[in-house]
Amino acid sequence: MICLGIESSAHTIGVGIVRGRRVLANERSTYQPKYGGIHPRKAADFLSKEFEPVLESALEKSCVQLGEVDLVAFTMGPGLGACLKIGLIGAKMLAQMLDTPILGVNHALAHIEIARTFYRCRDPLVVYVSGGNTQIIVLEEGYYRVMGETLDIGLGNLIDSVGRSMGLKHAHGSVIEEMAKKGSYIPLPYSVKGMDLVFTGLLTEAQNSLRTHRKEDVCYSLQETAFSMLVETAERALALTKRKELVLCGGVAQNRRLQEMLREMAKPHGCKLFVTEGQFNADNGAMIAMTANLMYKAGVRMKLSECRAVQKMRVDEAEVKW
Ligand code: FE2
Repeated sequence: MICLGIESSAHTIGVGIVRGRRVLANERSTYQPKYGGIHPRKAADFLSKEFEPVLESALEKSCVQLGEVDLVAFTMGPGLGACLKIGLIGAKMLAQMLDTPILGVNHALAHIEIARTFYRCRDPLVVYVSGGNTQIIVLEEGYYRVMGETLDIGLGNLIDSVGRSMGLKHAHGSVIEEMAKKGSYIPLPYSVKGMDLVFTGLLTEAQNSLRTHRKEDVCYSLQETAFSMLVETAERALALTKRKELVLCGGVAQNRRLQEMLREMAKPHGCKLFVTEGQFNADNGAMIAMTANLMYKAGVRMKLSECRAVQKMRVDEAEVKW
């Protein structure tokens, strides 16, 4: 069964084509604002312009004809409303044109499922870290349960905001990761509330510290403090659930220092860390297609009239029937 998945939850338009567990193509184009954060309308304009070339490129790369597609999928939420609608309209148009079934996919679920599918993890503890999300999740009785999460901003948002304050233009996370390698520790606020995390105090203090400290030292201390907070809650969850598989996913999962810290923490618990390659942790269409494939095989069906964009969709709302 060939599934075509469209991702458009934020600043990336992605089209993935998968056959079962095999990714045939995973093409994408990302909007990069000249200044500041993402403006939803400008991002949506960009996604709508880029949809056709990204689709064409995915078809060419996969050597799949549009007529061979058996299932069309799109990101239903969470995300920016105007951006989600671009993928929704594209998917509806394709499904009607090709007369195929259509499925809306939860974006967070897709980040987890592509990693779980690649590594055949049955029962993992999940650390999901992206721009807007930071969650410790566990699969329990057919649902993902959120054991702990950020109470304010996501980890990626924290790093991006400090990157912008430093005057960085693009790829804030990877630049900060590189600069951190040459930094020394300065104290920054550490805020863990039981199983939850608070990042805004750390953000303000890191921004203030840029006036008095080397950028490298702020980058190092920002990463060490934020990641230690996350690792502490993940370890508590691991001790409680006794899981032997730890999946790290989402955009920030690409950070090598975070991977190293989680791997070291998991080792004494007899637990192994799994992280997929970067293209599947960034927002991408392959994860939407692969998750839709699992959903379809498990009997999930959706009418065209049920397809919509849901800005605030949580991972614990999705039933995991596979
Ligand atoms: Fe994402």
